[in-house]
Amino acid sequence: MARGGDSFSHAVRPPGPREFEQIRQLAYRTFGLDLKPGKEELVSARLERLLRGGGFGSYNDYYRHVLADSTGESLMSLIDALTTNHTSFLREPDHFDFLRERVLPALVSRISVEIWSAACSSGEEVWTLLLLLREALPGPAIKVIGTDISRKALDLATRAIYPADRVRNLPPLWISSGFSADTGTPKCYSVRPGLRAQVAFRRLNLIEPFPWSQKFPVIFCRNVMIYFDRPTQQRVIAKLSASLEPGGYLFVGHAESFSGIEHNLEYVQPAVYRRSGGTKGGLWRAS
Ligand SMILES: C[S@@+](CC[C@H](N)C(=O)[O-])C[C@H]1O[C@@H](n2cnc3c(N)ncnc32)[C@H](O)[C@@H]1O
Repeated sequence: MARGGDSFSHAVRPPGPREFEQIRQLAYRTFGLDLKPGKEELVSARLERLLRGGGFGSYNDYYRHVLADSTGESLMSLIDALTTNHTSFLREPDHFDFLRERVLPALVSRISVEIWSAACSSGEEVWTLLLLLREALPGPAIKVIGTDISRKALDLATRAIYPADRVRNLPPLWISSGFSADTGTPKCYSVRPGLRAQVAFRRLNLIEPFPWSQKFPVIFCRNVMIYFDRPTQQRVIAKLSASLEPGGYLFVGHAESFSGIEHNLEYVQPAVYRRSGGTKGGLWRAS
């Protein structure tokens, strides 16, 4: 293993065809990322820091190092580097309008409501959901579970401190009730401790078996399946569907289409699906 070589002393060159194929297959196998040919520049931009930092002389050396690292740390760093974590508060706002108007009224008389934000990135989706649920469901005990594969994203989600310009588009009441303004520059907002107690973050890889048999009335799984190929999407959708209560809702990203995928969910409106049943069984009060 050539460490400290000078092959990467300037900009890291894109991987060659064989090197790209190694990384592509590793990413596909471990977290479902479908890296299409043509993404060589993206791979070199994302992995540059890791290759430089480890002093690897070639992608092949780096690849062999990741495979040989039995702690799993190097693989974790590779996943952190290759995942796209873009997100924002109140992203795709019509989902939150639909949730407030069409879904939550049916849950209002429950004792507790627990929902799942799968692939939650740095937490903005989780806190948005929690703030909405606290406002719309004053009765039930509320919990939002946030999961993601990226350790880096989950660290940020757990830290729950966001620059002022990221919370700017939230309703003023949500900002005042949900955050405290930190002193210092740039100005940041921290999620209040009372809200943190209503959230649990954990690492979960959507392509692996889910670690629970729990059923949720609502699952958000948005803007992650776009990185998977069709067979992986189909398997993940089947598992998400099995994790919904009868009558429960699945929200996906507006750019994610289920066309060509077999599933047992009812289409409700763009990017909203529902598992059938539930309305007569008492789980869902008619809204
Ligand atoms: C673009 S962000 C979406 C965040 C949020 N759901 C939203 O719509 O704003 C995609 C997230 O999916 C996560 N991700 C990618 N592959 C995953 C996998 N196999 N299992 C779980 N999370 C994954 C990434 O780490 C990233 O945080």
